[in-house]
Amino acid sequence: IENGVNVSFKVNGTTRKLMVDSRMTLLDTLRERLGLTGSKKGCDHGQCGACTVLVDGRRVLSCLSLAASCEGKTVQTIEGLAQGNNLHPMQAAFLKHDGFQCGFCTPGQICSAVALMDEAKNGHASYVTEAIRKQPGPVQLSNEEIRERMSGNLCRCGAYPNIVAAIREVHSGKPIEQT
Ligand code: FES
Ligand code: FES
Repeated sequence: IENGVNVSFKVNGTTRKLMVDSRMTLLDTLRERLGLTGSKKGCDHGQCGACTVLVDGRRVLSCLSLAASCEGKTVQTIEGLAQGNNLHPMQAAFLKHDGFQCGFCTPGQICSAVALMDEAKNGHASYVTEAIRKQPGPVQLSNEEIRERMSGNLCRCGAYPNIVAAIREVHSGKPIEQT
């Protein structure tokens, strides 16, 4: 491989060692070298969010990340969210609320939503004020806050109300009416 570099990182719990072109993106590496085609290539320019994956628990646009920069890191993709036959709660909520139509944006939406939950829980998100953090139980997010924090994930089918409903259900920890 021209400009080859060795990279070793954990993908969905399994250590993967491979040589990649130093210019290869994480997205192309996942899709073309590791056969993980769940992460989608929408724009390849950081504008749509379809390629969102979790790196060390934080959401990143894999089309803008180099595989070589993931050395020693932990990557989670949509393929790694379910536990055996049990869907991740966010996946189940997207199903319940019909949070997709064509499904192209869905893996990125779900990865982004999973990271958003942790951001809120850990107080990383700017909208989580000290007062909210001190409240017992899960952080309650308004629809507007969810929309704002999910604004990097575009959906050409316009499934936004259902996506927001799915995320709000998981955040609040209690079932909400289907839209
Ligand atoms: Fe990465 Fe669109 S493919 S943001
Ligand atoms: Fe089609 Fe979002 S479900 S792009």
